[in-house]
Amino acid sequence: MESAEAKSRIEWLVAEINRNDRLYYVEARPVIADADYDRMYEELIALEKEFPQYKDPNSPTVRVSGAPIDGFVQVRHEPPMKSLDKCYEKGDLVQFDAFLRREMPGGAEWRYVVEPKIDGVSMSLLYEDRRLVRAATRGNGEVGDDVTQNVRTIRSIPKTLPDDAPDMLEVRGEVYMTRDGFVRLNESLDEAGRQTFMNPRNACAGSLKLLDPKVVATRPLDMVVYNAGGVGCDGFRSHTEMIEAFRRWGFPVAPWSRTASTIEEAIAAIDELGGLRHDFRFEMDGAVLKVDERSLYGGLGSTAHSPRWARAYKYAPERAETVLRGITVQVGRSGVLTPVAELEPVELAGSVISRATLHNADQIAEQDIRVGDHVWLVKAGDVIPAIDGVLKEKRTDAIVPYVFPVACPVCGGPVERLEGEVAIRCVNPGCPAQLQRRLQHFASRNALDIKALGGRVADLLVERGLVKDPLDLFTLDYDALQDLDVGEAGAPRKFGRNALNMKAAVDAARTMPLDRWLFATGISNVGATVARDIADAHERMSDLPGSPVLAEVLANAERKGKDRRVLPIKVEAAKSVLAFFESEYGKAYLERLISLGIDPVRAAPEEKATEGPLVGAGVVLTGSLSRPRSEYAKLIELAGGTVQSAVTGKTRYLVAGENVGATKTEKAKALGTEVIDENRLKELLGIAEKPVQGMLF
Ligand code: IVH
Repeated sequence: MESAEAKSRIEWLVAEINRNDRLYYVEARPVIADADYDRMYEELIALEKEFPQYKDPNSPTVRVSGAPIDGFVQVRHEPPMKSLDKCYEKGDLVQFDAFLRREMPGGAEWRYVVEPKIDGVSMSLLYEDRRLVRAATRGNGEVGDDVTQNVRTIRSIPKTLPDDAPDMLEVRGEVYMTRDGFVRLNESLDEAGRQTFMNPRNACAGSLKLLDPKVVATRPLDMVVYNAGGVGCDGFRSHTEMIEAFRRWGFPVAPWSRTASTIEEAIAAIDELGGLRHDFRFEMDGAVLKVDERSLYGGLGSTAHSPRWARAYKYAPERAETVLRGITVQVGRSGVLTPVAELEPVELAGSVISRATLHNADQIAEQDIRVGDHVWLVKAGDVIPAIDGVLKEKRTDAIVPYVFPVACPVCGGPVERLEGEVAIRCVNPGCPAQLQRRLQHFASRNALDIKALGGRVADLLVERGLVKDPLDLFTLDYDALQDLDVGEAGAPRKFGRNALNMKAAVDAARTMPLDRWLFATGISNVGATVARDIADAHERMSDLPGSPVLAEVLANAERKGKDRRVLPIKVEAAKSVLAFFESEYGKAYLERLISLGIDPVRAAPEEKATEGPLVGAGVVLTGSLSRPRSEYAKLIELAGGTVQSAVTGKTRYLVAGENVGATKTEKAKALGTEVIDENRLKELLGIAEKPVQGMLF
């Protein structure tokens, strides 16, 4: 291709891909087939490689390849990003209306707009020459952080604007984490033995602060644009008109809004919106009432804190009052101390709740939560019970501040807060609570599957000092164990034959494949799927210390731009595995394993089906699926496929469940992976539900 021709072809492809992204992600009405989109994407990648001089820095192909950032540069907001005055009563809205009547020039007429108030992180997006050049958090309103690299990974945010948009434009809005994405993120953090987030807003803020855009790209973030910035928005008569233009230019805008000509109508709209508050993918923490006529804003002006043309109305939260009976501090398998609120049982949004996580010591201290307090209970992300404030007026003198344990509540050993972490950990490797949890994990279904080793037995083995390390299971005297009393107090019951079942399962574990062993070992950041990816790249357990493959993953992460390759192993996981086998415990663990005659090897490929619809196919599962992932994983393996945790060149199918994060499908498309839905997967696996034949009546 001639150079000039390549240039215009690249420009056309960029524009066309951006246009289709907008149709797909913002307007939810794709107009071309996935395969056609893929072809364009691949052509663009190829042309950009051949003619790098024409590669647009905003090309849709560079979205997730940002290199790690050293820190955030500060950005000054002009004009400052103000906040909103809040109110909690309908009467305050009527007063706001009366205030406006007094303040407005004679004869002024205006309409109101009602919008959801999104609970996320306020963000400014700046476009120059219709290209996204900067994204900055609100910070203190005057100065925020430049988080452009991270915000670029958000698929729904346009990276370039159409020709009819102003050359220079700043828009403002809210970046949020989707509610179900938040639940999934916490599940996976939990599985990897890491601290979870308190609510979608914290998870969103935490994600935007990450220094590695690649990790941010995996977080389910999205945005709603709802306000003008400092440039490019002067020409609009009304807010509604402006939002409509934002929508046309490809910005994601609020999925719901109403205009009203009187305050009464506006209040009715706020009530209507209140009924929908649990239905949005974002967490909504109220309604925003705005004057629609932008020409009246200047005359009204603003206070130091907020504009006078808008009010936030906070709905009475769906919450329940209850009493905090106690705080139990649980010790996880990696030693993290998690405080749990023990509550007087209370009904909230359809279920009876008696426990709520308190996350960490900071949360208790920040909210000054004390045992005996009357507290408000809410559901974070509408699902997870959480304490949302203390009724301090009901506090008596007998209720004293809560002191977080300064020693492990189980072993009494020292606790430590690691640099930069909120979590407090028990650092005694022999702590019985950690050991008990590790033992349970070691024996769990996706690990070494030792069924007879349930919670009660794991407790007893640790309590009696029979097991001080999971590997002690291989040297236990199982005959003697038959006499172990596993009954409850007053109802003795012998372990009996189950001891022998356990022995058989422990023997079987000796030959379990490397991925199961690696998962069972309980290294941070190594969940079942990640363990499989790592095992795929190694022959045996003893190859892991100092593994060149893992070292390459770390080296690759340091590289920039096109030198960086897509590797199937996550950086955090590679780091953790290398660190584990370098630690004293890790060394002793492996040595002991070898002396027990165990050096787990990679699952032999012949164990996999050699025929079946998915032979040789890598499959990545993403989004919410109607059946557990582990179930699909089994079926996929039976059909000859391999389940992967991330899309690579070997991935044939990306199964996109509900609410799929954009980055995964984007990456899949870039690598030529077919994106299929759950029904198609069922068809491939031969488990599709048959359509009902005929009518039933
Ligand atoms: S308009 C000058 N509209 O709520 C500020 N703000 O508590 C005008 N927010 O800092 C903002 N949803 O980050 C506006 N639909 C919406 C909003 C919204 C959420 C945030 C915004 C503001 C905070 C105030």
